[in-house]
Amino acid sequence: MSGAAIVSGGGRGIGAAICLQLADRFRAIGVIDRDRGPAERVAADLRAAGRISEVRAVDVTDVEGVRDAVDSLVAAMGSLDTVVAAAGNMVGADLEEMSVAAWSSVLDVHLTGSFALVRASLPALRESSNPSVVLISSIAARGIAGHANYGAAKAGIMGLTRSLAREFGPEGIRVNAVAPGFIDTRMTRDGAVQRGLDWKEFAGRAAAASALGRIGQPEEVASVVDFLAGPDSSYMSGQVVYATGGL
Ligand SMILES: NC(=O)c1ccc[n+]([C@@H]2O[C@H](COP(=O)([O-])OP(=O)(O)OC[C@H]3O[C@@H](n4cnc5c(N)ncnc54)[C@H](O)[C@@H]3O)[C@@H](O)[C@H]2O)c1
Repeated sequence: MSGAAIVSGGGRGIGAAICLQLADRFRAIGVIDRDRGPAERVAADLRAAGRISEVRAVDVTDVEGVRDAVDSLVAAMGSLDTVVAAAGNMVGADLEEMSVAAWSSVLDVHLTGSFALVRASLPALRESSNPSVVLISSIAARGIAGHANYGAAKAGIMGLTRSLAREFGPEGIRVNAVAPGFIDTRMTRDGAVQRGLDWKEFAGRAAAASALGRIGQPEEVASVVDFLAGPDSSYMSGQVVYATGGL
């Protein structure tokens, strides 16, 4: 087994599931997250499975901090083949009540965070024989009331994906995105609390809206990311793959 990946937001939810899934493919996984504790637990699980794994606790909106984190992870792992930008936040409010800070925070974490991670990773990705970038968009790109910042950021991720695919395609670097539907993570559980809804009711509504009649699990997004990271998707770039249960 060889190769290495870096995953932002790797401490929890979808990012953590991606770290564990990619450990079947890669020898080393670098975990970036703002919160050190959960990220260290993921890294410990990876090391217990015989992988090399280190954590860099950094906020992805800190562009210089992300560069330092990526540089030191690449130095520790020896190479980089796949980078996944899964760090994300939600700060909901109806538009007239939305503060500029809430608007900017969500655009910054998703868009500036993805920009920073990809830009910092390029020198190492250029050395890979199968370089792949996977960004995380969302079904919310189609519109989500009370979260205009999030819907705009996730639609922006789609434009960023297609633009980077064009820019780096000539170098053989593939750039794709996964757009999940409603997945059981802290983010959606917090969403239920913010709406004053019981989790079962909130999740039940999302399940009822999907074709499969259930919400998704983080592992069901991670497996799609893994496909986009691996050689089986070698002719795919600039694509957004939906994992929504038919939402
Ligand atoms: N859960 C869903 O239903 C769903 C659906 C579509 C897309 N997504 C996207 O999937 C990604 C992961 O979301 P999740 O549901 O696993 O959320 P989560 O809250 O469970 O995990 C997000 C992780 O990102 C980290 N993080 C947040 N802001 C950060 C920052 N500024 N810098 C560094 N790390 C930061 C958090 O500490 C956390 O560990 C996000 O981009 C989210 O928008 C989630």
